[in-house]
Amino acid sequence: MTFPLAVTVTAKQTGRYLVRAREKAQAWGLPFLERPRRTPLEETLGTVADALLVLTGEGWKLHDAQDSLAFSPGMGALRIKRLGMPGQPQDVLARLCELKAGDSVLDGTLGLGSDALVCAKVVGPSGRVIGVEASLPLYALASEGLKTPPFEDSALIEVRHGHVLEVLETLESHSLDCVIFDPMFDLPKRSTPAFHMLRRYALHEPLDEVTLAEARRVARRWVVVKGGRHGNELTRLGLTELKLSRFKPLVWARVAPSTA
Ligand SMILES: C[S@@+](CC[C@H](N)C(=O)[O-])C[C@H]1O[C@@H](n2cnc3c(N)ncnc32)[C@H](O)[C@@H]1O
Repeated sequence: MTFPLAVTVTAKQTGRYLVRAREKAQAWGLPFLERPRRTPLEETLGTVADALLVLTGEGWKLHDAQDSLAFSPGMGALRIKRLGMPGQPQDVLARLCELKAGDSVLDGTLGLGSDALVCAKVVGPSGRVIGVEASLPLYALASEGLKTPPFEDSALIEVRHGHVLEVLETLESHSLDCVIFDPMFDLPKRSTPAFHMLRRYALHEPLDEVTLAEARRVARRWVVVKGGRHGNELTRLGLTELKLSRFKPLVWARVAPSTA
């Protein structure tokens, strides 16, 4: 039997890693694979497990037969650096959400957290950011990578595993300032190897009307939806594309909260 996903440790394992990795495997409901010292991952991948979450000295990595993926603030870090820099355009997401210190945001499609990191920086330590990720391996990478705020004066991101609709249904009406969605685009754009790997493990479910309605119930300022320029996510949901720039690969829509 091959496990779809399992947990193990780096080949340079120490007792410390073993204890942590075992605890995490149990918390994530995944099998823990003992790894004989210095055994290459290739011997396990495809035979014992299709993919492995590996605890290394640099944190958790997701490995499969094709590639590996680690948490990195990546684009989020770049966007944060540009926030408030003279001569730099305002961050589109922060602008559309009209985000300010102390705000609360739910990111319904967390991925590896670039958008959530930007929100966390803008709302600051007095604000609140909840990130929801449906894919277990991506949740594992994001929740471990975002355990401490990677940037000064950021809110700590509360990472939850599950379908965003299930999380929204637990929340009071108009209890958060903004809800944001960045679902997987129906037509992928050319991207980095890391994004290809994220695509393989991501949930490719389009945003639906029920989830959007729940987001409008929970939000008190805006629901913001990102789509691909060549996709039809926004029109399918009856949303109007905002006129931002004709040359960007992304399109955006912003919906007011429901009045009920
Ligand atoms: C395009 S990525 C998000 C990238 C993210 N906005 C960022 O800035 O790094 C979309 C992510 O949302 C997750 N996702 C898709 N549908 C979801 C749902 N209904 N509930 C929770 N997560 C979902 C996917 O697994 C994927 O990781």
